[in-house]
Amino acid sequence: MRKIKSKIMSILRTYLHIVIYFICYGDLPTSYYIKRGMKVGKNFHRQTATKFDPAHCFLIEIGDNVTIANHVQILAHDQALRNHLGVGKLGKVVIGNNVFIGAKTIILPNVVIGDNVIIGAGSVVTKDIPENTVAVGIPAKVVSSMDCYLEGCKKELITHKMFGRTYSNAATLSQHKKEILKEACKKDYVYVELDPVIEYNPVGKKRWEE
Ligand SMILES: CC(C)(COP(=O)(O)OP(=O)(O)OC[C@H]1O[C@@H](n2cnc3c(N)ncnc32)[C@H](O)[C@@H]1OP(=O)(O)O)[C@@H](O)C(=O)NCCC(=O)NCCS
Repeated sequence: MRKIKSKIMSILRTYLHIVIYFICYGDLPTSYYIKRGMKVGKNFHRQTATKFDPAHCFLIEIGDNVTIANHVQILAHDQALRNHLGVGKLGKVVIGNNVFIGAKTIILPNVVIGDNVIIGAGSVVTKDIPENTVAVGIPAKVVSSMDCYLEGCKKELITHKMFGRTYSNAATLSQHKKEILKEACKKDYVYVELDPVIEYNPVGKKRWEE
């Protein structure tokens, strides 16, 4: 009896999550996209309000260890010519392994983002981005190789204040820790150690962990 009750509770929790994320952010669960043909690798993390062209998501492929920040939109179709020429364009979007896509980025159809890439927040990706690079802007352009960028970041880790993992989950931070962080951020930004995996959006988690 207890087993059945906990099973029912777990199902309810999962669906409640899906409904809340849909109402608040318009999020469809990752499992929805996967059922419609989108390919998603291991360790996929998406933040809230991310959209993957629901009708054409079968044209989207995402590699392993990919993080998609909030409000990102990935488009695999374009109806700009519908009124003029009566046609639409379709194009694949392929995202490699170890890729971070910054918040509010738009990725247009027919784009390949290589492995080990960071796309800066607010970018519009209109053309392929080569592997091992950092690209930002509208349209997104490569501004650094990944090696060069990480070299610079490693130097900053020494000169900037670093907080441990107990500061990593903003949702559960005590008021005291928030005050400490606010004080520390007065001069410059600070770094926070992160756990290797942070599950931003539990919706659809089961599907890609299978
Ligand atoms: C791309 C990014 C990783 C670079 O970080 P950074 O090393 O701290 O970069 P800096 O702030 O030193 O900027 C370097 C240069 O790139 C420019 N730049 C940085 N991010 C940019 C962006 N998103 N769009 C356009 N230009 C950008 C800066 O203006 C600066 O230009 P300058 O050299 O002419 O002054 C970061 O800016 C970013 O966009 N991160 C994503 C944040 C995000 O999406 N968060 C959501 C929750 S995870």
